[in-house]
Amino acid sequence: MAQEDVFRKLVSHCKEYGFVFQSSEIYDGLAAVYDYGQMGVELKNNIKKYWWDSMVLLHENVVGIDSAIFMHPTIWKASGHVDAFNDPLIDNKDSKKRYRADVLIEDFLAKIDDKVDKEVEKAAKRFGDKFDEAMYRETNPRVLENIEKRNEIHERFSKALNDNNLVELRQIIVDCEIACPVSGTREWTDVRQFNLMFSTEMGSTSDGALKVYLRPETAQGIFVNYSNVQKTGRMRIPFGIAQIGKAFRNEIVARQFIFRMREFEQMELQFFVRPGEELEWFEKWKKIRMKWHQALGFGADNYRFHDHEKLAHYANAATDIEYKMPFGFKEVEGIHSRTDFDLKQHEKFSGKRLQYFDPELNKSYIPYVVETSIGIDRMFLSVIAASYHEETLDKGEIRVVMKLPPALAPVKAAILPLIRKDGLSDKAREIMDKLKFNFACQYDEKDSIGKRYRRQDAIGTPYCVTIDHQTLEDNTVTIRERDSMEQKRVSLDLLEQEISEKTKMEYLLKQLI
Ligand code: GAP
Repeated sequence: MAQEDVFRKLVSHCKEYGFVFQSSEIYDGLAAVYDYGQMGVELKNNIKKYWWDSMVLLHENVVGIDSAIFMHPTIWKASGHVDAFNDPLIDNKDSKKRYRADVLIEDFLAKIDDKVDKEVEKAAKRFGDKFDEAMYRETNPRVLENIEKRNEIHERFSKALNDNNLVELRQIIVDCEIACPVSGTREWTDVRQFNLMFSTEMGSTSDGALKVYLRPETAQGIFVNYSNVQKTGRMRIPFGIAQIGKAFRNEIVARQFIFRMREFEQMELQFFVRPGEELEWFEKWKKIRMKWHQALGFGADNYRFHDHEKLAHYANAATDIEYKMPFGFKEVEGIHSRTDFDLKQHEKFSGKRLQYFDPELNKSYIPYVVETSIGIDRMFLSVIAASYHEETLDKGEIRVVMKLPPALAPVKAAILPLIRKDGLSDKAREIMDKLKFNFACQYDEKDSIGKRYRRQDAIGTPYCVTIDHQTLEDNTVTIRERDSMEQKRVSLDLLEQEISEKTKMEYLLKQLI
């Protein structure tokens, strides 16, 4: 199946089974804003718990906070967001549509890559087993011409971004003859910078209301609480502060479902270290974070690091963890060595001392920071993309199954009386009432057992527990495992243990140690 088809199916599956809905749908929706439904919220909460526990439970020197979304506006001046949190925008004069200039160019580059890949694919089919891809890429004139063209544009593009050269960005669009996807014309305005922060007004004073921003990252809430936490928690360097919360960005190009949203959630860790030790910690956190992703079992080949060519002014090292989404490898998490930039800036703008006295070195300094920052929504997308499977069964029937890691599954066990009669429902209810204190369970007695299995497969329930006439005789049930569809008889005394082994968060967390 083509990757676009997989993605389209995924989006409609998310709606059909209550994972993700378009926000304000009955009013025709609000662009790039999404709501999580009854299944989505459970999956999202489980992802958050996996992250939180891996940070706060497994690291004695990491604690969590929950800071407010509204913060003093000077914070965003100090952090650089007021002056530099911008995207370069360009308008098409005919369609009046607005685009990110860098995205137009990136898409153009991706099209050249596609062309090359298709050319190579065609040749691979033509030559069969004898095909040497590396050699073909190095010698075929059409491929070489396209690669050269791509590299030339890419070089100009990187330089323009690095130099913040908006005139050159426009010129690249003109030179590449990029047309507006709506009007089809090449009538472009100049490129302008557009700040991504949403603002609103707070309270009202005689001088007017205070302009405040909806935070574009949760990190600053950690920086401005660094000293509070360090002192009240008697934290000693190295230590970390973790936070999960909403962030807002007025994204102009918001697309690919929940990949790029205007309201989203982040899980961020700021890890405070001695100056000079930050790059060592950066490497350690890269390993820890990659292990966290890979423990989900979606295959190591689906992840890669992408080191930043252009470092932000505050960073001395940066990489992304990318996951192979149905639309290519994409950033899910960013890991940055942020130096002492943020704390230094907050010391300067607030006038408050943010130094740490290191008893071992007997001196004070502003700590350096290594940040890990992951978007929950992108993580959610990677989890559902990896889990969605269509399988053809014996009689040609298609089974849609979400092979979610059991610890993340919204429902851990479905409780299914074989029929409604003969006291089976009562027995099933009795079992449900026992299990529900420890597991998210769903009781279902409607339709045939086969249909009920399919419904549970579609939401990724790892276990289906069937109560039949034999249950009444010997207190055993059938337990069906989602992926293998294998069934076995289990005594009711052992049922909890059976379900618990793989569905408990502990199962995932133990793989991290
Ligand atoms: N504090 C650092 C920071 O915010 P970032 O690379 O801008 O860094 C971190 O964002 C992560 O937040 C990204 O890797 C991504 O997963 C997520 N993210 C950023 N913008 C997003 C958006 N518009 N929609 C969904 N997730 C987003």
